[in-house]
Amino acid sequence: MFLKKIIDEKIQGAVLNKTNKQIGLKKMYIESYGCQMNFSDSEIVASILTEEGFGTTNIIEEANLVLINTCSIREKAEQTIRKRLQFYNSIKKKYNKNMMVGVLGCMAERLKENLLEEEKLVDMVVGPDAYRDLPKLVNQIEDGKKGINVFLSLEETYAEINPVRLAGNGVTAFVSITRGCDNMCTFCVVPYTRGRERSRDPKSIIKECQQLVKQGYKEVTLLGQNVDSYLWYGGGPKKEFKKATEEEIKNSWNFAKLLEKVAQISSELRVRFSTSNPQDMHLDVIDVIAKYKNICNYIHLPVQSGSTRILKLMNRGYTREEYLLLIDRIKKRIPDCAISMDMITGFCSEKEEDHLETLSLMDYVKYEYGYMFKYSERPNTTAAKRMKDDIKESIKQRRLSEIINKQRKHSLLSMQKKIGQTYEVLIEGTSKRSKQHFFGRTTHNSTVIFNKKHYKKGDYVMVNIKECTSATLIGDII
Ligand code: SAH
Ligand code: F3S
Repeated sequence: MFLKKIIDEKIQGAVLNKTNKQIGLKKMYIESYGCQMNFSDSEIVASILTEEGFGTTNIIEEANLVLINTCSIREKAEQTIRKRLQFYNSIKKKYNKNMMVGVLGCMAERLKENLLEEEKLVDMVVGPDAYRDLPKLVNQIEDGKKGINVFLSLEETYAEINPVRLAGNGVTAFVSITRGCDNMCTFCVVPYTRGRERSRDPKSIIKECQQLVKQGYKEVTLLGQNVDSYLWYGGGPKKEFKKATEEEIKNSWNFAKLLEKVAQISSELRVRFSTSNPQDMHLDVIDVIAKYKNICNYIHLPVQSGSTRILKLMNRGYTREEYLLLIDRIKKRIPDCAISMDMITGFCSEKEEDHLETLSLMDYVKYEYGYMFKYSERPNTTAAKRMKDDIKESIKQRRLSEIINKQRKHSLLSMQKKIGQTYEVLIEGTSKRSKQHFFGRTTHNSTVIFNKKHYKKGDYVMVNIKECTSATLIGDII
């Protein structure tokens, strides 16, 4: 009881496996951090190891194998993982001497064998393209050796692997469509940790979505670092497309085509996607969103800065004006489209006037939501090599507070506008705050809380909005 309590307290913030079934004798415990892609990858890892006779557990002290799927995007993300490893160490010492520990994902790829040296507890280091090698590596640890595979592939998409839906609610699921990123934003570690961009076979994507529909799922989110860049011409890295044959080009699929085909699977299936990159998002995609009612009117369109000078230093591939033109086009074709962003404040050489441009861009767009970060220098990126992280911490912090405050106001305003309106909401589960209430989301990705009545998880209901906070709508089913 006491042990369980400690664990429950320590795991706040991390999403854990909800299943606790014992398929084989061996049990694995997987914890995921970072982007949605990591959560999706953990489902692939669970699938690969389930084949090897591992069952999943959410009780760490009974696990034979503890896996942590890691994030390197900011220094703080890595510090969180290091602390978590210390916690695993204490559990291992106190309760579970034979526990094997594997580090997966971006930190594994970035730090490679250094992780084995620095974190004595770690038995295995596996990069995002090497998960098929897990059974072999686990055997190796069972034989008393350490295991490492950080090979980055040009083809791997885990296309035919059927993910084990870990923390699933049985209603919404992630489906990955591309891996890696070729954009080389100067601040970003992802191209180094996840390798070259490649797209997954559309047949396998559609098959996975059809299976989800059969199992009763009502929403899929198509995932990629840069979904608009999706391009299938028979496999291989995106950069090699220029070498494709005429036949391959003729039969190729872009994101607009894929999105349309997924939307056509069932009108009962909601379709979302993430993340869009402004330099790759074209009008054909916006037209497909406008055409299908079951594609949600919500676009996450990271901007990173409102200053063209900074955008250029970041190698984002668009100017402030081009970004705003895209926003205007989206709003013209889909007037009721919610837009959210990512923003980095305090990037190398950012001046007060650049910051003011960021604030004025936010005033123009009035985003529904925003994810805002202080610039964190990542080793080996172009920014780390060629630019100076020269904005004082106190200035970064002040600018961050200013953009967060502005975003809060905009979020609240957009939520307040929804009071009195009625929206279709997909019920995802019982509200954390009250057993009598469900929570679900609108097409705009706003969370709504409402009385349960006689409905059930997975139903679509019409909810009239009565009140709101800056993050949640509260309403009644009509
Ligand atoms: N295209 C990706 C972006 C991944 S990173 C996606 O699928 O979301 C998510 C966000 O983290 C970025 O949009 C950026 O705003 C932020 N970020 C990336 N590198 C960063 C860094 N070095 N410092 C601070 N924030 C960073
Ligand atoms: Fe990173 Fe830019 Fe790709 S933010 S993930 S390099 S689009």
